Amino acid sequence: MSKKLAFIGMGVMGYPMAGHLQQAGYDVCVYNRTASKAEAWCDQHGGRAASTPAAAALDAEVVFVCVGNDDDVRSVVYGEEGVLANMQPGSILIDHTTASADLARELGAACEKQGVEFLDAPVSGGQAGAENAKLTIMMGGSADTVAKVQPMLDVMSHHSGLQGPVGSGQLAKMVNQICIAGVLSGLSEGLAFGKRAGLDPEALVAAISKGSAGSWQMENRSHTMWQGEYDFGFAVDWMRKDLNIAMQEARKNGATLPVTAVIDQLYAEVQALGGERWDTSSLMARLVKFH
Ligand SMILES: NC(=O)c1ccc[n+]([C@@H]2O[C@H](COP(=O)([O-])OP(=O)(O)OC[C@H]3O[C@@H](n4cnc5c(N)ncnc54)[C@H](OP(=O)(O)O)[C@@H]3O)[C@@H](O)[C@H]2O)c1
Repeated sequence: MSKKLAFIGMGVMGYPMAGHLQQAGYDVCVYNRTASKAEAWCDQHGGRAASTPAAAALDAEVVFVCVGNDDDVRSVVYGEEGVLANMQPGSILIDHTTASADLARELGAACEKQGVEFLDAPVSGGQAGAENAKLTIMMGGSADTVAKVQPMLDVMSHHSGLQGPVGSGQLAKMVNQICIAGVLSGLSEGLAFGKRAGLDPEALVAAISKGSAGSWQMENRSHTMWQGEYDFGFAVDWMRKDLNIAMQEARKNGATLPVTAVIDQLYAEVQALGGERWDTSSLMARLVKFH
């Protein structure tokens, strides 16, 4: 009999991640607040759907969550309809949502009370990484727990690594988001400058992407940024959530994030342009008008 799993949240990320697990032979039961997405997932992948998170988690050895923010996670984990209501001692809860380290510690404690193991496990790699099973997974928890779920993580990712105790996965993801914000800010200004200077984008990127200014964002996003296309999955709304989580954590650990704070405000300007669901490379939209 194949292992029973539950996956909560059929968004841009959760839908393909759960699909990879089902295709690898696991018996996945999904839940999504908007039921039509769970139904579409079942039609495509042949798994099962439940009407509440708790019902999806019934008999599941491992429950995966990938929803929006801290409160969204709480709403699918706690209460009569939350996954913890039906999780058995020895089962494992994995939260792939990008959320605060405080939430991870809170979930870790709630799970421990009922003998459930917990990993905070935010991901990087975007929509393409989720669809192509090329995510990076940053985890907080115990090595024993990771060992039990490693085959499942391998189905969705090309790298997964334990960063430390519960909460450490989220802390690593904060570093990731701080770095991406800085890279995208520089790339947006550089490309907007190049456009005004009348440079040829192909020749420009072919040259500078091979030098020390090169980045994943430059390789994968500069062409679409130049065209004003911003429909790639990682929403500006989510980026602001992530930067604010990082800035809150910085207030506690004493780190200073002055550039991150400015970029957060630049993303607020993108939201005001109607870009709440544009992807994060739309930082350039403030500088070059396409829409
Ligand atoms: N997209 C990316 O490139 C990317 C990359 C790395 C990390 N992440 C992180 O991964 C998480 C999910 O991102 P996503 O892009 O998949 O988001 P998304 O497409 O907006 O999907 C969010 C999912 O969460 C569900 N949800 C939200 N609030 C809920 C609530 N209160 N109760 C129940 N379900 C709720 C939504 O249900 P409905 O369908 O009913 O709205 C949907 O299934 C976020 O934390 C994001 O920061 C995203």
